[in-house]
Order: sequence, then structure tokens, then C-alpha cells
Amino acid sequence: MKSGVPDTLITDDPRLAAEICRTGRAVAFPTETVYGIGAAIDCPNAIREIYSIKGRPANNPLIAHLSDPEQISTLASSRRGYVNALVDAFMPGPLTLILERAGHIPESAFPELPTIAVRVPDHNLALSFIDAVGSPVVAPSANRSGRPSPTRWEDVRDDLQGSCACILRGDPAIRGVESTVLDCTGEVPQILRPGSVSLEDLRQVVADVRTTGDVELLSRSPGTRYRHYAPDAEVVLVDAPPVNPPDGAVFVGMSAVGRPDRWLKTFHPADLSEYARMLYGVLRDADRLGASAVFCQRVESAGVGAAIMDRLSRAAAR
Ligand code: TXA
Ligand code: MG
Repeated sequence: MKSGVPDTLITDDPRLAAEICRTGRAVAFPTETVYGIGAAIDCPNAIREIYSIKGRPANNPLIAHLSDPEQISTLASSRRGYVNALVDAFMPGPLTLILERAGHIPESAFPELPTIAVRVPDHNLALSFIDAVGSPVVAPSANRSGRPSPTRWEDVRDDLQGSCACILRGDPAIRGVESTVLDCTGEVPQILRPGSVSLEDLRQVVADVRTTGDVELLSRSPGTRYRHYAPDAEVVLVDAPPVNPPDGAVFVGMSAVGRPDRWLKTFHPADLSEYARMLYGVLRDADRLGASAVFCQRVESAGVGAAIMDRLSRAAAR
């Protein structure tokens, strides 16, 4: 089905999207975390297209998306003993593993690193798409660099219309924050990016899991060097909604606001999962509404709350 977007085919058919991908073009597709923009791993032109469409720094590597955890062994040269337990527990799911990369893998999507990030999305449309492409699909989130990751196909269209060949349209993402990136190259796995799978979840399976201090993180995971997730409106983190918000402000948080009429719009997630699911959409909607500021209520940094707080602090950092 054609949309009004020039040069961008919007389709619900994973096989048609895969055909376009196979012709050497980048294709946006849904996952349970956020939408990605993918290329077949053996299409260097399409990979270059992704970097150029997104305005992504050339040294920031992509995640290889697979349709079956069995395929991991074709990309990784060796794996630590604890990796199998993680694969069994969390794949398919919102967990990305960093492993040592096998020598024969084309390098264009993995600049400057001897490692590879692998993930199996827990999303039927994504799995059908990857399967139909017939090779791993390397993909970052489908936002322009510096914008919040897209959780709805309309957000992908807003960022990429006219510059990406095809958008595979799915439902809004169920998780709403990106996958947890876990470095599995060392004796003890280490979280490089908190995400939908929490530290507590991981520790149920592998007793010893490390989190990484910011400074070290910068050198280990290239993507964390860049400002991320920010809308145009100012993002202000608060413990409770202010009584006298400035004109045109938006609030997101679990607490009720005293005077709803003083707010341009308020969003009240019922729990942490819903907060995670709606956060990026709220940031984007705030811009769409021309909001002056978005007041985001802090949450406890436990469970998926750690990922929410990570994204909130990045969005608030100017
Ligand atoms: O949920 C997700 O992970 C989404 C969906 C589309 O799968 N993808 C996503 O990709 O968020 P991206 O590129 O926006 O974020 C991937 C992060 C970046 O910070 C990147 O630097 C890091 O993973 N990364 C990728 N390969 C890496 C590697 N070999 N070593 C360390 N970090 C890596
Ligand atoms: Mg991203």
C-alpha cells in the first residue's frame, strides 16, 4: 500500500519489506522495544545508507538482529559459559549480547570493534521480516540521531519519510525503551546500557552481573558517547509535579497533578512498564504540541526504572 510519503513505501507485509531490503535498501521495521532501520548484513551500500539517513557517527556499530538464537554461533567466534543460560532465559527478547565477532563477518556495520552485538526480537512481524531477508539484519533504532527512538510507525515516518525506502508498519512497541546491552566478552557480564531486561532479571539467571560506571561505559559502548533521546522542548526531572508550571508545559509521571487546567497535557502511566512504554511517545508528542517544557517525574531506579531513569537523565542533559 502506498502512502502519501514521497518515495517511502509503507507496508504491513514483511515479505515485501524483505524484498526491498534484499535489493540493497534500508527498511524500517517494528520490534518489541522500538522501531529499527535495518539492512541485510551483506549489503554494505544499505548499511552506508543507514548511517547517512540517521546522521549516525561512523564509528557507532549496529546490532545484528536474528530470527533464531541458533544463528548466534554463525556470527560469534566464541562464547563464555554463562551465555547459553542468558540465551535460554531471554531470547527472543529485549536483550542484546556483545560477543566476540567471528572473523569472516563483513565489517561495515561493526566499525573499530572486534565484537558484535546480537539480538533476537520478541516480535512476530520482526521475526518474519528477518526470516524473509534470509540473513542477519543489522539495525539501529529508526530515529534521526539525537531524537527519541520511535515507538510508533508514525514516529518513524516523521523522522525518515522520503529518505528511507520502506517502513514495515506494526503496532506501537510494547516495551518502549531499547534493549539491555550486555557485554558478554568478560568473565562477568556487564550492562553497557540498561534496558527492558533489568539487572534484577539478569541476576536471576547469572548470579554475578556488573553495571558499568559512566566513564568506562563511554569507551566500551560507542553509542553512549552521544546525546540521545532528547526532544526540542526542555526536559525537567522532578520528584513531584510542580504546583505552578510554566505556560505550555507537559507532565508525565505516576502522581496526579493538582491543577490539570494549568498543564498543556498530562500523562499518567499506571506503573513502570507503562511509563517505559509511553515515555518516548510523550517526548515526541510534546514537540508536536509545541510544548515549552516536559516535566518528567523521577522513578525508583530498580527494575525497568533503571532504564527509565537512564533515558530521562540523557533527555534532560543539555
Ligand atoms: O532495542 C534495541 O536495541 C533497538 C532495536 C531496534 O533492536 N536498537 C537499538 O540500536 O537501540 P541502537 O543502535 O540505537 O543502539 C545500540 C547500542 C548503541 O549504543 C551501540 O553503540 C551499542 O548498542 N553497540 C552496538 N554494537 C556494540 C558493540 N559491539 N560493543 C558495544 N556496544 C555496541
Ligand atoms: Mg538508538
